[in-house]
Amino acid sequence: MPLIQWDETMSVGMDELDDQHRELIDLINEAYEAIQRHDEPLMASLIDKMRDYSEVHFRAEEAVLRSRNYPDSEAHAEQHRTFSDKVDDFRRDMFVKTNLSQIFIFLSRWLTNHIMHEDRKFIPWLPETDDEGA
Ligand SMILES: [Fe+2]
Repeated sequence: MPLIQWDETMSVGMDELDDQHRELIDLINEAYEAIQRHDEPLMASLIDKMRDYSEVHFRAEEAVLRSRNYPDSEAHAEQHRTFSDKVDDFRRDMFVKTNLSQIFIFLSRWLTNHIMHEDRKFIPWLPETDDEGA
């Protein structure tokens, strides 16, 4: 069973960002599976992929927020940095820690909450997506 499942309640109403959130969730689910199977080489490569992709996504999301003059852009970017730091800590210590699944579940919950609560706050600042030719 996947650790996180994307559903409409996580939508921010912009396809580009929703697609990136889905991709990130897929990577998290794959990494979690590798952790549970104690597949160390796969774990390492998937965490790296997840970290790289989260960076691509955060940069894209922050660029959208700045271009829309979202007033909390800076605070929002700071939350992204917190997540990246946590993933870096995880990656660094993953071969010496024993409760990896628990730590990883915590990380994935953090991201789910971020998408459902923090990301959804900027919805009113996004362009209308169903405007024809917009
Ligand atoms: Fe975000």
